[in-house]
Amino acid sequence: MGHPGLTTALLWLCLFACGVPAALAQEPATAPMTEQRLEALLARMTVREKIGQLYVCRINVDGIEDLVRAGEVGGLLNVRDHDLREKLERVAVERSRLGIPLIHGADVIHGYRIQFPIPLGQAAAWNPALVEQASAVAAREATAFGVRWIFAPMIDVARDVRWGRVAEGYGEDPYLTGVLGAAAVRGFQGTNPADGQRVGACPKHFAGYGASEGGRDYNTVDVSERTLRDTHLAPFRACIDAGAVTVMSAFSEVNGVPATASGFLLRQVLRDEWKFDGFVVSDAKAVSQLVVHGLCADEKGAAREALLAGLDVEIISTAYPDHLEALVSEGKVPMRALDDAVRNVLRVKAKLGLFERPYSRQRSEEELLRPDALALARELARQGVVLLKNQDKDDRPVLPLRKEVGPGAPVAVIGPLADAAKDQLGCWAVYGKPADSRTPLGAIREVVGAENVKYAAGLKDPTGTDHSGFDEAVRAAKASSVALLFLGEPAAYTGEAHNRAYLTLPGAQAALYEAVRATGTPVVVVLLSGRPLEIGDLLRSADAVLMAWHPGTMGGPGIADVLFGDHSPAGRLPLSWPRTAGQIPIHYNHQNTGRPSTRPWEPTVNETWKPDTGHVTGYVDLPTSPLFPFGYGLSYTTFAYSDLRVEPVKAKLGAPLRITARVTNTGARAGDEVAQLYVRDLVGSVPRPVKELKGFRRLHLPPGASETVTFTLTADSLAFHNRDMKRTAEPGRFKVWVGGHSQAGEAAGFELE
Ligand code: BGC
Repeated sequence: MGHPGLTTALLWLCLFACGVPAALAQEPATAPMTEQRLEALLARMTVREKIGQLYVCRINVDGIEDLVRAGEVGGLLNVRDHDLREKLERVAVERSRLGIPLIHGADVIHGYRIQFPIPLGQAAAWNPALVEQASAVAAREATAFGVRWIFAPMIDVARDVRWGRVAEGYGEDPYLTGVLGAAAVRGFQGTNPADGQRVGACPKHFAGYGASEGGRDYNTVDVSERTLRDTHLAPFRACIDAGAVTVMSAFSEVNGVPATASGFLLRQVLRDEWKFDGFVVSDAKAVSQLVVHGLCADEKGAAREALLAGLDVEIISTAYPDHLEALVSEGKVPMRALDDAVRNVLRVKAKLGLFERPYSRQRSEEELLRPDALALARELARQGVVLLKNQDKDDRPVLPLRKEVGPGAPVAVIGPLADAAKDQLGCWAVYGKPADSRTPLGAIREVVGAENVKYAAGLKDPTGTDHSGFDEAVRAAKASSVALLFLGEPAAYTGEAHNRAYLTLPGAQAALYEAVRATGTPVVVVLLSGRPLEIGDLLRSADAVLMAWHPGTMGGPGIADVLFGDHSPAGRLPLSWPRTAGQIPIHYNHQNTGRPSTRPWEPTVNETWKPDTGHVTGYVDLPTSPLFPFGYGLSYTTFAYSDLRVEPVKAKLGAPLRITARVTNTGARAGDEVAQLYVRDLVGSVPRPVKELKGFRRLHLPPGASETVTFTLTADSLAFHNRDMKRTAEPGRFKVWVGGHSQAGEAAGFELE
């Protein structure tokens, strides 16, 4: 493709430049946008054109074409009108004075057309390679519709599952979140984000957003600087180290200052400490909301506060375009600050190849829903399924089911989420289509034959309270060898602004469960949900329970693969599963306190719980421990850990340590296991958490086979913010575990001098 945009820009430079190196004007139109050329371009920009680069808007704003022609728009977001978008791309390049291309950003959070499992479900697969591949597919599909920049990954660490956005992130652990976030960044951007099939990533929401008080979205965040740095900032650091070109700031007030105007976050941490050279975009209308927060009296003040704090790009609201020009002319915003922001934007546009390739490639439906990509979505869905229970009242496993069910032994498929094409797509399925969904009902019919399936939704939808469908459900269960009960949350109970005070099954689902269970037919509950739910009662009596999250377009086949044994479940919880909302916040990597609970985690099934005695941290009416711990998940086979070794057991601080353990498949079936490495730094200048995940590996083992897993610990992996808020590892004794979840595993120790 030719390059009219840059030609226009260069022509303009040739004609009007003074002080522009002559060589520059001679350069071919397709030459890369170097820093030197970028400076030359910046030098030619009017104040309004500069401000234009800092404004990203919806395509339906009044007079959009004129604004683009005037160079007063830097980009567009979440566009659906592709004819208009393509026209505007050309107007920007061919008709605006400087020909600077637009950037088109979109919320492609867990897929573009193909919806992969929600990020929390992806996290449950503990498989960074799959997250990377899924992100690459999302980028490939999205670029076929002009998207050059994706507002993901969402890497807000969350310890409160009432928060709807817990579905959008990778759970409660900073290490797991950082590893998966970096994998997503690599998937989106590839090695060359300008190659036409990749996009710029945008880790969000910077920072601390996951700690919104009470699990209420947009709410205030008040955490110590140490927790902010060690827990909430760490995954951002990992994503920026992976090359993320942009970052989105959080809506929240964080330790007193809204993140949108936090010089501490946006300048000190991001630029001064981390040397980030991409751009920071606000969250939707967040600049104007600085007025609502009570930080500024008006939007003019908001524009000044945000820009001076280091917020480069405003989306949707118009404080920058409305007020920055006056602020600059009044000397309230130095030109230098404006130029810095514009530089950051132009640099990212250059990295994404927008100057060389300003127009998106030919729109193509053929890029969508490709068979290899659907297979990947199915793989990720099944790898994320977590088996929570598989034990009938006689202690026998009911799963996997046999595919060969005879006419006399049909399978009952019951529940409002068995055939919920839209809900299974999850909370951010902006460009996904329910019609593409392969539901559990359809998939099970394919496996056992439609004639062997008795289907009854029982409830009209997941929030339904009308029991009139129960009789049919009961009849279906009575006539079947097993009842597969699909329960959980509608997608609309999860995601942005969809927080919950109760974690119970919505509507009359608990009653539906009881009615089906009372038939005496074995019951397998499959949960489709954006967060852990309160399922203690159900867990006691169900024969098997699986957590399938909102598993996306290919959720049905992915779940069926697990139910019928084509895949042995190895999903592991990326967060602690609370017994009830009253335990929140709950996370495995908590501090020990001076009076820790004396009761370790126990499986709930057949639990005979007694409260902690004495003055220790805990409750008189419930264990402190979660229903299921972080990292937990069962399998159709069993694994044993042995031969845990740390070499050397005594080392100089800074020398790498090698941790090895032998994992053996001790059961009769092949399966995957997720070996997890946890560390405790026993004494620190500030006390360290009781356990911290420092490594993991998902491995496949045939029955009877063993493999030695190896992890390396470095000074960096043991570092934390010490009493002086310096990130460093400290000498002393450490405990280390390798096992199948955060409350299991062989233990050993080492010492750093
Ligand atoms: C969300 C962001 C999203 C943005 C743009 C906001 O409301 O918080 O995560 O990227 O909208 O759609």
